[in-house]
Amino acid sequence: MKNRVLSSEVSKLVNKQVKMVGWVHVRRDHGKLIFIDLRDSDGFTQLVFLPNHKQVHKLAHQLRAEFVIEIEGKVNNRPEKMINKNIISGKVEIEVTNLKILSKSKTPPFEIDRDTIDVDEETRLKYRYLDLRSKRMKLNIINRHKIINYIRNYLVDNGFIEIQTPILSKSTPEGARDYLVPSRLHPGKFFALPQSPQQYKQLLMISGFEKYFQIAPCFRDEDARADRSPGEFYQLDMEMTFTNQKEILDLIENMFTKMIKELFPKKKITKNPWPRLKYNDITKKYKTDKPDLRVDKNNPNELSFAWIIDFPLFVKQTQKDFFYGVGSRIAPSHHMFTAPKEEDIKLLDKNPLEVRSYQHDLVLNGTEIGGGSIRIHNWSIQEKIFDLIGFTKEQKKQFDHLKTAFSYGVPPHGGIAPGIDRFISILCDEKNIKEIIAFPLTGEARDPLTNAPSEVTKQQLKEVHIKTDYKQKSNQPKHYKKL
Ligand code: AMO
Repeated sequence: MKNRVLSSEVSKLVNKQVKMVGWVHVRRDHGKLIFIDLRDSDGFTQLVFLPNHKQVHKLAHQLRAEFVIEIEGKVNNRPEKMINKNIISGKVEIEVTNLKILSKSKTPPFEIDRDTIDVDEETRLKYRYLDLRSKRMKLNIINRHKIINYIRNYLVDNGFIEIQTPILSKSTPEGARDYLVPSRLHPGKFFALPQSPQQYKQLLMISGFEKYFQIAPCFRDEDARADRSPGEFYQLDMEMTFTNQKEILDLIENMFTKMIKELFPKKKITKNPWPRLKYNDITKKYKTDKPDLRVDKNNPNELSFAWIIDFPLFVKQTQKDFFYGVGSRIAPSHHMFTAPKEEDIKLLDKNPLEVRSYQHDLVLNGTEIGGGSIRIHNWSIQEKIFDLIGFTKEQKKQFDHLKTAFSYGVPPHGGIAPGIDRFISILCDEKNIKEIIAFPLTGEARDPLTNAPSEVTKQQLKEVHIKTDYKQKSNQPKHYKKL
């Protein structure tokens, strides 16, 4: 809007006539004097409606919380006693001489001028656009933007290029269930939404893009936890050629340390450089591979990073549904593209559980916030891993495209993918990753705002060659019956 002044600018305009727009945040109607806290994108400004501006004063009686208004008025210094240091325009107030109501609002289902953390989740998500008006939520989303923007600039300055990989893609098994998308043009066939861009980023290394990154959407159909989305989340996905583990760890460590210094100056990192700990040592010492090394776990400003290295390449397969080869004793500790340590390759046949790998995990305050590895770049070793995890001929065939690519000169390569949401939630002092996602799903993978997932028309199903049997089932989750 032309000539509009923001809350951060008014205190420099004392005695001037200004135009402002925004939402009615709080209204205090004292009869003769009406005060409104106007909320705009960078803060609040106090408006005063005096009885001597008769028409405007009359209209101001109609104002309610969350009305959108445009005002004109004179910027006055506040009396010394009335200065409010908590708001950006706290030294001044606007004596309103003109008021236009641009849009009225119903009474919101919860109070927006307070922290909404205790409001029932279903209501918060149903009215997420209102929830995002609250101060803490707005700040979280802005901080998310700043963190991602910092990372993007840092990597670009260090020679990385950002490349988008397909969303409609083929499943890369990362150990979770896929989200499937039926194909209209290929009856009976399905795309899988990527659990991560793992295969594509390795193919990009074969293409010769030596430093790749992407703020990558990932989709995993898994049960929600405080630090896990049940649907989609974002990774800072990275990969480099001709690299080694130290270079990858150093890069992330330097970037995150600088970012925290600049964006979160109150936060203190417990130990610099970050400890690099061996899997066998820490699991013996702490009985976990995600040790929380904070000195004071009650200090919200303490950040304790640790790298975990020298993981075993395989773990005993415990998943009931045997995600990897049916009946195989062992499964990859991270994923099947992680390289074994050269000196342990000889143990692959005899004692695979003894083989150590080039996997690296990043742990922050006891939460795994990233994982990666140096990759296998030799197809005969890759095939050996497939055999050891019990892949059938058909399962191996699913990777024929990689096998072919690996026959055209594969540079040694490696990378990592910190989970953006987990990392940001810790930096924003939030216990649940939903607090730093604009429109998250509920724990049961539903969006109360749009009612997704929802039924589609018979015609739509027909076009994608799908018949559903869900109506015959009696054990539908409760929320389905409500739809
Ligand atoms: P991995 O599966 O370990 O590795 O995932 C990397 C990081 O992604 C985050 N993450 C999640 N965040 C929120 N919700 C989820 N459901 C979720 N699942 C994972 C975690 C985790 O550490 N392709 C490899 C990376 C690589 O090898 O470069 C991969 O995806 O913070």
